[in-house]
Amino acid sequence: MATATIIDGKDFAARLRAAIAVQVADLKKAHHLTPGLAVVLVGDDLASQVYVRNKGIQAQEAGMNSFDHRLPTTVTAAELLEKINQLNQDPAVHGILVQLPLPKHIDADAVIDAIAVAKDVDGFHPYNAGLLAVGGAGMVPCTPVGCLMLLKHQLGKLAGLRAVVLGRSNIVGKPMAALLLREHCTVTIAHSRTHDLAEECRRADIVIAAVGKPQMVKGDWLKPGATVIDVGINRITAPDGKNRLVGDVDFDSAVQVAGAITPVPGGVGPMTIACLLLNTLTAACRQRGIPVPEVQPAAE
Ligand code: GUN
Repeated sequence: MATATIIDGKDFAARLRAAIAVQVADLKKAHHLTPGLAVVLVGDDLASQVYVRNKGIQAQEAGMNSFDHRLPTTVTAAELLEKINQLNQDPAVHGILVQLPLPKHIDADAVIDAIAVAKDVDGFHPYNAGLLAVGGAGMVPCTPVGCLMLLKHQLGKLAGLRAVVLGRSNIVGKPMAALLLREHCTVTIAHSRTHDLAEECRRADIVIAAVGKPQMVKGDWLKPGATVIDVGINRITAPDGKNRLVGDVDFDSAVQVAGAITPVPGGVGPMTIACLLLNTLTAACRQRGIPVPEVQPAAE
C-alpha cells in the first residue's frame, strides 16, 4: 500500500533558524540592533522548564539576546504584572513570552492583556487576535504559523482546498483557521461537540489535529491523499510499558492513507520555536522602524 510523504519539520525548522540567524547578523551590522526575547517562567513545571531552556538556547544560537526571568509559584499577580511592565519599558526587549500554564491563583488573561501589543511575540493578546481576524499585520501565534509554513512547503498554493481544524483553542485552533481562511481555504473548525468528527475529516484535503487526545484521528477518517498536520504532543505508556510521545493522529494507520503527514516528534514541535524567533525578529524591526526582512528557509 502507498505510504505518505513524511513532512520533516525538524529539518525545515533548522533551515528556518539558519535563515533567521543570517538576518539577525545583518541587523546587527546595518542597524546595531540585536533582537531581544524575554521569557518569563513562573513555578517549576518540568515540561515548561524544558521549553524555556530550548527557547533561550535557540534564541542565542540565532544571535539574539535571551533574557530569562524565573519567578516562584508563590509570586503574586501584582508582582508578575510589575515584571511585565518593566519588560514593556525595556528597549533591549523586543519580544515578551510568559510561559503557560500559569499557577491557578493568577489570571492568565490579565497577564496576556498586560503585555505590550508590539512585544507580544506569542500573538495571544486580544488586539493581535483581532488583527488576525480582520487581516491586519499583527503578531500571529507561533504554532499555527509553523503549521502553515509546512503546508505551503508541501502543497504550494492552498486556495480552494478544504481544511478541517480539529480543536478551537485561542493558541492553535482559532488562529489556524484564520490563517487558512487568509490563504483562501474552505475552513471548518471541528471540536469535542461536533457530531461526526470522522465524517468532517473525510471531506478535507488538509487536516490540522490540535485536540490533545492521543492518536484520536485514525487512517479511515482521512480522504486518500490528504495532508495531515499533527499538533498534538501526548505522553503515553505504550503496550511494552515504555513512555512514548504520540500525536493526536494515529500515525501508523494515517500514514497508509494520507498523501503527506507530520511525525511526532519532529513535525510541528520544532517549528514553534523557529516561528517564535521569526516573530521576535519581526517585532524588533517594527519597533525600530526597519523594514521587516523576508525570511526564506536556507536551501535543502
Ligand atoms: N506553553 C506551551 N506552549 C506555549 C506557547 O507556545 N507559548 C506560551 N507562552 N506558553 C506555552
